Amino acid sequence: MKPTVTMRDNRTGKEYEFEIKEATRGPSVVDISSFYAQTGMFTFDNGYTSTASCQSKITFIDGAKGELRYRGHTIEDLANNHSYLETCYLLLNEKLPTKEESYAFDLELRHRSFLHNELTHLFDAFPTGAHPMATLSAASASLSTFFYNHLNPQTDSEYQEMARRIVAKMPTIAAFAYRHSIGAAFIQPDINRSFTENFLYMLRAYPHERMHIDVEGERTIRPIEVEALDTIFTLHADHEQNASTSTVRGVASTGAHPYVAISAGISALWGRAHGGANESVIKQLEMIGSVERVDEFIARAKDPNDAFRLMGFGHRVYKNFDPRAKILKGLQDKLKDELNLDSNLMQIANKIEQIALSDEYFIKRKLYPNIDFYSGVILTALQIPKSMFTPVFVIGRTVGWISQWIEFKKDTNTKIARPRQLYLGE
Ligand code: CMC
Repeated sequence: MKPTVTMRDNRTGKEYEFEIKEATRGPSVVDISSFYAQTGMFTFDNGYTSTASCQSKITFIDGAKGELRYRGHTIEDLANNHSYLETCYLLLNEKLPTKEESYAFDLELRHRSFLHNELTHLFDAFPTGAHPMATLSAASASLSTFFYNHLNPQTDSEYQEMARRIVAKMPTIAAFAYRHSIGAAFIQPDINRSFTENFLYMLRAYPHERMHIDVEGERTIRPIEVEALDTIFTLHADHEQNASTSTVRGVASTGAHPYVAISAGISALWGRAHGGANESVIKQLEMIGSVERVDEFIARAKDPNDAFRLMGFGHRVYKNFDPRAKILKGLQDKLKDELNLDSNLMQIANKIEQIALSDEYFIKRKLYPNIDFYSGVILTALQIPKSMFTPVFVIGRTVGWISQWIEFKKDTNTKIARPRQLYLGE
């Protein structure tokens, strides 16, 4: 007999039965797809706090324990023992690559990192000073004009080509968006550099500069910087059905082009409740300015009549330490002496963390530091401009979005995402 849940309408005494579907791990779900047909009512779940919007085999989160896995592998293992590209391969292929597969994947992404020359003219349509996230969203959507044939991939190799193309080009688009925002010439990808090093190179280099020659002792890209950024990309690679991923799946459900779906995901990510938090954290730390002022802002965060929130704190799913935040905190400590971590910002951040972890308000609400709380200080030390913090999140997350798009398309049992409402109007 299938396990079920019985619901009783206490107005009429009528009972309705719904099937329980077991998860391989984590909470089971009640299949309420026949709820309306059976009861004539909708369910109401503001912000989807109790709704599973799809079935998936990609990412698992146990928010109470603070556990995160991609395709069954712990985030700690991937961050400590594997590169970002290996993680991409895992998300796209359901297994870690062999040495040969890893080499071929890396080489293919290097070759696919270039943009069509026509696309580079698109950036001119936007004013200097445009936020790179806005430009990034527009430029990603415009990729659908160049690769319209990716609309409906049929074979595995077509799916892979479509996915690898967008993963490879995202750092280039992001770097171009930044350089346009400061009125600087674009730096083309360098095929001799790895995925992550290339991104730093396209951000930092001067035209015609030979970056590997350390003239001033300043502008060379150090291996430790590449390693740190690579870990940051891995930590952002996927995160289950968050707001931007749900947006990507929602767009996928209408049959639109995958790169337009990614562009919608980028737009959803930009908000400060989601990926935009990393830029907001550092701006907030700068606004607080000194350790002495931390108490004042903690008090504001706790005041129910003040809209002020501590950026980088709280998470819909994690009611424990965000495991990604733990890894970044470790990375921050490791980099403290090697890179020029801003000690004033770190001191303010440490004091906020200390107070929040021992304060009744935060404990009661299970508000812990999240990934964005720590990434800003590290990204600052990597000389990544604030406006590029959320684009860094985008670069890391693109593989997750496209993996979820592929899973959606391959699922033969999907429907257009079309919620209903509780109508309260005239
Ligand atoms: N500072 C102060 N109070 C907070 C905070 C915060 N950062 N976050 C939540 N609360 C309080 C909130 O006021 C509420 O209190 P009460 O029960 O008295 O009304 C309670 O905690 C629950 O908050 P909520 O808004 O109902 O929780 P949510 O699950 O809907 O929101 C969140 C999650 C991440 C949007 C929220 O915690 C937040 O706005 N955090 C700051 C922004 C941030 O750091 N976002 C990055 C998330 S991690 C990166 C990613 O995966 O996108």
